[in-house]
Amino acid sequence: MRITLFGERQRQGSHGFSWPWPYNSRCSPHGEQKRDATTARGNASGARVTDTPLPRQVTIVEVGPRDGLQNEAAFVPTLEKIAFVNGLANAGHTVIEVSAFVSPQWVPQMADAAQVFAGITRRPGVRYTALVPNLHGLSRAREARVDEVAVFPAASETFSKRNINQTIDEAIANAKRVCDEARSAGLRVRAYLSTSFGCPFEGAVAPARVAEMTARLIDLGAYEVALSDTIGVAHPRQVSDVLCKVTRLVPASNLALHFHDTRGTALVNVYAGLEAGVATFDASAGGLGGCPYAPGATGNLATEDLVYLLDGLGITTGTRLEAIAQASRAIEPHVGHALPSRVFRALQTTWGRE
Ligand code: HMG
Ligand code: MG
Repeated sequence: MRITLFGERQRQGSHGFSWPWPYNSRCSPHGEQKRDATTARGNASGARVTDTPLPRQVTIVEVGPRDGLQNEAAFVPTLEKIAFVNGLANAGHTVIEVSAFVSPQWVPQMADAAQVFAGITRRPGVRYTALVPNLHGLSRAREARVDEVAVFPAASETFSKRNINQTIDEAIANAKRVCDEARSAGLRVRAYLSTSFGCPFEGAVAPARVAEMTARLIDLGAYEVALSDTIGVAHPRQVSDVLCKVTRLVPASNLALHFHDTRGTALVNVYAGLEAGVATFDASAGGLGGCPYAPGATGNLATEDLVYLLDGLGITTGTRLEAIAQASRAIEPHVGHALPSRVFRALQTTWGRE
């Protein structure tokens, strides 16, 4: 049986995957549209994006305890999750997505969200956040004293239905209810926009739709939208292309990028994001991760790999690479397989020599 990622109607290249739209796009870094983008909202500096210096400081949103552990076959014991979160905070992270207040029938690995929040040691200056799909989730999150919540609609209908059992319109309506109630309770709301770079069921997703949905989520009250490559199909030119469209409506300072590293392009996609002025990136310690409702999604961009890149570029993150790797080292035996982060694996070769 021949399996195709996006179904038979998609064209396929020799590498087994090809996008149905051409990349001589008018919005690409090599295309004419670049000049237009520099005068648009969000690119208002007047400088060409390629001439813009990289951000000097980047915020890393550590999603390992949530996006990482939600997709592991093994249920990681609650005490180990707590130690993992504490280890990541000690490593200098300022934003940690601790868990998800979703249905335990849908994602059993996150069933102990309240217990994890109850057990962590809260360091001053660290925001401990969680996913909430609806008002029920928000109410559980508030009881657990989360600092911030995240809603997670998708840019494609089929994934939206499979992931949260809601159409896009229903998900947006739900996100509005969560934003309204969370904000009136003094909680900030982040939004993910899943399948921003491709859907496992529908294939290509139009950048214009991503831009329009991102703007809607900001209008609903989300302070930031994490454009999410749910199944790790994005490549750098596409990242530039999507950001070019999105930053006409929403400034880069309200955007984050959330890459899964399924095809090994996550780091180079980060570089494309930095070039476009994005300064917030999600990553998962050790490269844990995936989405249980996205066939083929593997781990997130590994935090160690991201920090190694940013350290090398002289970009401040406030995190300590060795301490992140120690947190990964402690969780690895509980997930039952070797963690994929390359930098983590390279560091392992130095342990035992110290
Ligand atoms: P549903 O079955 O349609 O929900 O699921 P429902 O409203 O019909 O309720 C059914 C039952 O679930 C009821 O219980 C509710 O109380 C309960 P019953 O009366 O049968 O005993 N329920 C809940 N229980 C606990 N917490 C809740 C909650 N809500 C309802 N919040 C629902 C709809 C949204 C709940 C479900 O589909 C769900 O939880 N989905 C979450 C799936 C998920 O977590 N996916 C992974 C995270 S997303 C991701 O990884 C992508 C991301 O990383 C970005 C990217 O990479 O793209 C963020
Ligand atoms: Mg994800």
